[in-house]
Amino acid sequence: MHAVGIVAAAGSGLRLGAGRSKALVQLGGRALVCWAVDSLRDGGVNDVVVAVPVREQSLFATVLPMDVRLVAGGRTRTASVRAALAAVRGRADVVLVHDAARPLTPPDAVARVLAALEGGARAVVPVVPVVDTTVVVDDSGAVADTVPRETLRRVQTPQGFEHATLAAAYDRLGDDAELTDDAAVVRAAGVQVVTVAGDERAAKITVPHDLELAELQVRR
Ligand code: CTP
Ligand code: MG
Repeated sequence: MHAVGIVAAAGSGLRLGAGRSKALVQLGGRALVCWAVDSLRDGGVNDVVVAVPVREQSLFATVLPMDVRLVAGGRTRTASVRAALAAVRGRADVVLVHDAARPLTPPDAVARVLAALEGGARAVVPVVPVVDTTVVVDDSGAVADTVPRETLRRVQTPQGFEHATLAAAYDRLGDDAELTDDAAVVRAAGVQVVTVAGDERAAKITVPHDLELAELQVRR
């Protein structure tokens, strides 16, 4: 099974506020995007394509290994993944789509996604339980309802897909469509998405506190 990894790294990282592309921000002395590429490879992915900000392609080329392919990302994550997917060569059997913003994803979590695909799943997402009480609020911010959390999960990346299934789902999707993940794209095409266990260490770096926590983890 030939697996190609796509890393979405074309965001600007406004909430992190580092004044530069989030994927180029350093963690333990290496850019976040390098960590994400290594997780995929160590977990069993064969080739990697990275979607990067149009104007920073040369900067990414200097930090990433030579055999990683770079493509210009788009205005939204959906557009960036679409661009990378167009650059995936035909011989991929499965495609794993990962966020550059999840640098400490253990290779085991990647391997679980690959194993589910190997077992015949067409779409796989790693998930973790919701541990906090979860509520619905009304317009004034008052609690309107408590949501039973037993059936709720938080979805991480990498998300894995049969290559043909993901390509067909993106083809069906409108040019301006903006979905928050790739499982939503295949679900919109009627494909069943199965889950495997994710890992809390695959947490996404969104705000400065997340980066501080990640720094503590790599220093141990
Ligand atoms: N991403 C992308 N192309 C975009 C927007 C986002 O490839 N046009 C990628 C980001 O680089 C990131 C992942 O999608 O690895 C998850 O997005 P998010 O955490 O929201 O990152 P940013 O969009 O960069 O951050 P922010 O929303 O705070 O600006
Ligand atoms: Mg964003």
